[in-house]
Amino acid sequence: MIKVENNLFTLTGDNFTYQMKVDSFGRLLHLYHGPKIIGDASSIISYRDRGFSASPYEAGFDRTYSYDYLPLEISTLGEGDFRTPGIIISQEDGTTSSAFIYKEHRVYNGSNKIKGLPSVVIEDAECLEITLEEELSKAKIILTYIIKDSSLVRGLEIVAGDKKIKLKKALYTFDYLYGSFDVTYFEGRHCSERTRKRATINTGALTFTSRKGATSHQINNGFIICDSNTTELFGSALSLELLWSGSFTFFAEKNQYGSTRVGLGMGSEFFEYELQNSSIALPELLITFSSNGFSDLSIKNNRFIMSHIRRKNLSKLNNPVLLNNWEATYFDFTGEKLLSIAKEAKALGCDLFVLDDGWFSNRNDDLSSLGDWFENKDKLKMDLNTLSSLITKEGIAFGLWVEPEMVSENSILFKNHPEWALMLKNKKPVRGRYQLVLDLSNKDVVAYIKSFLDDLITRGKLSYMKWDYNRFITDFFSSVTPAGKIEYDYILGLYSIFEYLNEKYPHLMIEGCSGGGGRFDLGLIYYTPQSWLSDNTDAIERLDIEFGSSYLYPIATFGSHVSAVPNHQTHRVTPLFTRSCVAMLGSYGLELDPTKLSEEEKNEIKFEIKEYKKYASLIKDGDFYRLLDSNEASSALCVSRDKSKALLIAVNRLSHGNPVDHHVKLKGLDENKNYLINGKVIPGSLLVNAGLLLPFTFSNDYEAIRLYIEEV
Ligand code: GLA
Repeated sequence: MIKVENNLFTLTGDNFTYQMKVDSFGRLLHLYHGPKIIGDASSIISYRDRGFSASPYEAGFDRTYSYDYLPLEISTLGEGDFRTPGIIISQEDGTTSSAFIYKEHRVYNGSNKIKGLPSVVIEDAECLEITLEEELSKAKIILTYIIKDSSLVRGLEIVAGDKKIKLKKALYTFDYLYGSFDVTYFEGRHCSERTRKRATINTGALTFTSRKGATSHQINNGFIICDSNTTELFGSALSLELLWSGSFTFFAEKNQYGSTRVGLGMGSEFFEYELQNSSIALPELLITFSSNGFSDLSIKNNRFIMSHIRRKNLSKLNNPVLLNNWEATYFDFTGEKLLSIAKEAKALGCDLFVLDDGWFSNRNDDLSSLGDWFENKDKLKMDLNTLSSLITKEGIAFGLWVEPEMVSENSILFKNHPEWALMLKNKKPVRGRYQLVLDLSNKDVVAYIKSFLDDLITRGKLSYMKWDYNRFITDFFSSVTPAGKIEYDYILGLYSIFEYLNEKYPHLMIEGCSGGGGRFDLGLIYYTPQSWLSDNTDAIERLDIEFGSSYLYPIATFGSHVSAVPNHQTHRVTPLFTRSCVAMLGSYGLELDPTKLSEEEKNEIKFEIKEYKKYASLIKDGDFYRLLDSNEASSALCVSRDKSKALLIAVNRLSHGNPVDHHVKLKGLDENKNYLINGKVIPGSLLVNAGLLLPFTFSNDYEAIRLYIEEV
């Protein structure tokens, strides 16, 4: 509900209130964000003379009014607010001071689709729009707020008039006058993405920046701000997630009066966007609130993502079980070999065979050929159309790996169009995985990518495409786009290709990937319903990646595969059952050569795929509870929304002599129902409150348990 009374804006969701007020000097103050309230929270602001705090001219000699202290919805430089600013513009004369004053607002119902960017899809959303105007340049900021359930979606557009401005920084900021907060962030590296870490917000900014042109493995663009005593099951927490796949900046700090400011938005130091009679829309920010701990926050947030962000018009291939040949063959295959793998995949129960890297031009290693997207007939001994027909004739769909944003120097494309690669003029390019990044801010490049994808999708009769991105941007120089605009325009170019494909080929499912999970974010999830979670397929290490990722992303978006042992990344040998249980906490697939499996293994995998298909909708549409997440053991529960069914998965890491038992409380079940587990009827109240002893035998390392739980 959105209520505007005089100059007070009160936005009320299911469980929270977000309140702002225009003060007597036209400044938009951020008053409150937390559990529901009624009334005007401006009563908590204290106006006092604070030594050395500056006051704006219009306050006259009133030293109690200062932006050094006030909670602001928009924060800039040069107004006496010495905290880290969210918005920096430089004016025509070079000054970086700016002041945005309230102009007007409107409340309306409708969809708020931002052209060229992913945005939440809510029919008849309740929206508030507030326009502010900058005093000197007359540039405008248009703020939008959409309320739905426990979530708020913020949008921000900057519109320049006749006067030229340069937008140098554009973050959403949040000010909290009182309280002690922690930030939970998700850091990592290639093969170890989104590990959860927690830090106290203090004086001195804690900052995270991706200046890679993509989200990155190192730090995700989703964060959780919580009270310092919030735990998995108790306390207030709110998540901040950008619908964006490029560089970004986050900071959190306390000032000298104990107030907290948090900022998150697109762009790094490379960003500088010149505007004149033009505008730029920032990516939307999803903010979800819970007073009941991280578990409840994740569930509320992930339900929102599944309903309003993740692409829904998915082909018939809804949650296909796929087999990907990457770890099976790497670059070493023929068409014949692929066909034998696809046949076996079908026999095991897979719905889709995915041909990974190495099928095109002269690509037999990662040194060459990116950009030359035509099949290697010498290697395949057939063309793409024939390969696809032979595979689909076996009753299994066909999909292809592509890495459209890249070019190898050793390619026809680079020879013809060196100016299409992002590289400096008089300096040799910086290489990553031997390759360069194409300039997606260039419309000709975007058109080229669309046209070769059209060709592949049509000739290969593709049902699926794995869209990879295996290096980050270093050389921010384009032959057509000013350097400061590349971070933004590149991502718009990327999104325009996804828009085009989604519209033209609604049957095509695209899976995102970036060396595993290097570009795992809501921007991508809007276009690609699942993303390869990590290049690390080891079941034990993957548990940490799944658990970390589950805080801010629904598990249905995790591409999750059973691979061979010894594992190719860690050399660890884990039981097939454990690998399968871990893969079930996501969108299931295989990443191995099925022609090399023993009969016993084949039978086990057949059984496992059947089991997964039984649980698939529970996993996809249910709520995910992290029950146990320690160095010793992990356990999770997927519960259907009506609480009639659940799937419990638990893994004990190392086996110990004289082991300690593991026990979990089955949060998420209904205390008033009875449930059947392993042939026994157990009251819900007992499972929820007394809990369940996990029946590990402790007879080997990496032991897994899977229990199906059903209401009786
Ligand atoms: C990336 C992906 C892998 C595989 C290779 C192919 O690393 O994450 O799954 O597709 O590229 O080169």
